[in-house]
Amino acid sequence: MKALILAGGAGTRLRPITYTRAKQLVPVANTPILFYGIEAMVAAGITDIGVIIGDTGDEVREAVGDGSRFGATITYIPQEAPLGLAHCVLIARDFLGDEDFVMYLGDNLLEQDLAAFVEAFEEARAGDDPPVAQILLKQVPDPHRFGIAALDEHGNVVSLVEKPADPPSDLALVGVYLFDKTIHEAVRAIRPSARGELEITDAIQWLIDTGHRVRTELLTGWWIDTGKLTPLLEANRLLLEKLETRVEGSVDDRSTLDGRVVVEAGAEIVNSRVRGPVAIAAGTRIVDSFIGPFTAIGAHCEILNSEIEHSVVMERSIVQDIPRLEDSLIGRDAVVRRSQQRPRALRLMVGDHCQIDVE
Ligand code: DAU
Repeated sequence: MKALILAGGAGTRLRPITYTRAKQLVPVANTPILFYGIEAMVAAGITDIGVIIGDTGDEVREAVGDGSRFGATITYIPQEAPLGLAHCVLIARDFLGDEDFVMYLGDNLLEQDLAAFVEAFEEARAGDDPPVAQILLKQVPDPHRFGIAALDEHGNVVSLVEKPADPPSDLALVGVYLFDKTIHEAVRAIRPSARGELEITDAIQWLIDTGHRVRTELLTGWWIDTGKLTPLLEANRLLLEKLETRVEGSVDDRSTLDGRVVVEAGAEIVNSRVRGPVAIAAGTRIVDSFIGPFTAIGAHCEILNSEIEHSVVMERSIVQDIPRLEDSLIGRDAVVRRSQQRPRALRLMVGDHCQIDVE
């Protein structure tokens, strides 16, 4: 079995961060989202992995490399424009050959490991009425944001619709799909949707309409499509929740660490309090500050005389003299500081699509 991980596309909903960075490389718990997907694949025994890349391809290649650090072999497949999930299958035809494969959306994070999902498909394929595809479903409170499946009374999927205004159910398609070679016929048969994309939901609908069996599985653990700020912070929280304490950097005797905290080598905690779960990456300095639960601070940052909670700070950024920062995502090489006197006027340099809430 092979894997196809989708790491192209445009990250419009995480702008301005994703103007300069692939959305799949935004870190949660100090690890790029995409790495969790690759690791999950390898843990399920799948090491021959194709990765679809778009405009941010160079950055993805640089971060992931040839895959050897994950125990995988990576083949990059450039996509000229984000023309849809089914378009990704279309252009990966040579890489995939006639093998079964897992398709995994590079911005999705799942709690459950993939091995059981893959095994269930393989078992069903060996049975009497072998499925050609398997989809993973999860009940969601906001079905208009996802691909949605309608099931019959036996639990068989009868129809799939992409981001419906009037959802037929609350069962969303999770970004993990299993296919056999029949999908190649499907992606060639469908036409672009109203939004101009070749939709994977339409390709799966084609499989159903042409009499093929599509298996469904219900996801039990959490699942997050990290494309927006709130789910991204939620993913950061859920992954930090699994953290185990590891202190390899220095902590002076005026500082305290409570709960599960990771302080990577070369990080320094000076006269500060860190209340876990918190991850502090290599080379970062925390001075005269409080770092509260569910915060991940990337490498080579400086947090000076500030309080931060429930936030992600990316590498090489500085936060200085900020009385309280919450629920925030700070990009790379950013500076967030407040002048010592209460300013009469705000002095800002703000990029396109930024959001600044001043209270
Ligand atoms: O997250 C689950 C949802 O993902 C499903 O419920 C939907 O049925 C499915 O269409 C998809 O919806 P999104 O709107 O979230 O898809 P998005 O455009 O964010 O793309 C998902 C991933 O695939 C992302 O990592 C970017 C990548 N991608 C996307 C497109 C359209 C590509 O590599 N190439 C593409 O052409």
